[in-house]
Amino acid sequence: MPPAVFNAHTDPIVGVTEAYKRYTNSKKMNLGVGAYRDDNGRPYILPKSRQGTPAHGGTAESCRASAELALGENSEVVKSGRFVTVQTISGTGALRIGASFLQRFFKFSQDVFLPKPSWGNHTPIFRDAGMQLQSYRYYDPKTCGFDFTEQSVLLLHACTHNPTRVDPRPEQWKEIATVAKKRNLFAFFDLAYQGFASGDGDKDAWAVRHFIEQGINVCLCQSYAKNMGLYGERVGAFTVICEDADEAKRVESQLKILIRPMYSNPPINGARIASTILTSPDVRKQWLQEVKGMADHIIGMRTQLVSNLKKEGSTHNWQHITNQIGMFCFTGLKPEQVERLTKEFSIYMTKTITSLWLASLLSMWATLCSGLCVLPGGHGPHASER
Ligand SMILES: Cc1ncc(COP(=O)(O)O)c(C=O)c1O
Repeated sequence: MPPAVFNAHTDPIVGVTEAYKRYTNSKKMNLGVGAYRDDNGRPYILPKSRQGTPAHGGTAESCRASAELALGENSEVVKSGRFVTVQTISGTGALRIGASFLQRFFKFSQDVFLPKPSWGNHTPIFRDAGMQLQSYRYYDPKTCGFDFTEQSVLLLHACTHNPTRVDPRPEQWKEIATVAKKRNLFAFFDLAYQGFASGDGDKDAWAVRHFIEQGINVCLCQSYAKNMGLYGERVGAFTVICEDADEAKRVESQLKILIRPMYSNPPINGARIASTILTSPDVRKQWLQEVKGMADHIIGMRTQLVSNLKKEGSTHNWQHITNQIGMFCFTGLKPEQVERLTKEFSIYMTKTITSLWLASLLSMWATLCSGLCVLPGGHGPHASER
């Protein structure tokens, strides 16, 4: 982390509460918080919504559980406390907090290198935070080359790269880590699909953990929208790995100052659900099984899609569909082919990145297969007829 991160002045209201928490006199009163209290000075919990007042960074329990999920329960980073995690408004909120934090403190450069292509929202998130957008070649079938300069921010999809769904293999991740270290790049991980790639959360967080083991202090965005089905609850986390616990305190103070004017406090309900799932051994076990079930189901759908295309007579090589990982499928179709699928077969998918939402495939299986098989370019036996 750059030395430019200094301790933030505490927000006056937050400062009162923090001082109140530190003060040990049992007769203490906190008149600084604009929250309703009962006659005994206790929060009044509405019978229908048993919620408390969250802190700017979210509940300590859910933040720690998030860090442990990504970094591993035996992580040296977690044990030594040289990290800070704040609860965010899902993965998008984590990215925005991270982008704003780097815009304010990463003084080496305001350049952020996004993989080309990347998730569509990465561009406006970093642009609106004031970062300068650059790109690097993410996927090149021949060389898989990287094209970036020193001391910049490098955004990496930790698993199930969106939209290509092509992930580097472990040996390629090792190479990327070596380059990042050599060129002083700041690794900014986006981990929006932990568990969804392989069905194993530890495996999906491997790249993040490898970077940390190599002495690279990364930052990390997490989302529980997909892997816990908590999309509407907007639960996520942003973590910064620091040099030591002291730097973590300074970074935390700055994150709180960033969060306060954006949305003050994150919602508590979803964080409690996520925290319960992660911290109750039985529930966690069941959740891990369910995530694996979903991941296996998606992998099975890929195999079925390819085999159905073959059955329909397609001679095209669809192996990339089974090689890819995660909820989407990067078909490799050209925009005009997608347009034709939409016009002639009412198959709706995005034009530019041509990805499929696998979950919706089952219902339109037959149409999709016959649609793909009539496309020109050797995709099917009927190609010349059209
Ligand atoms: C790569 C990537 N990052 C982050 C997100 C953010 O998701 P959410 O804000 O819903 O948690 C998504 C969602 O599609 C994504 O694909």
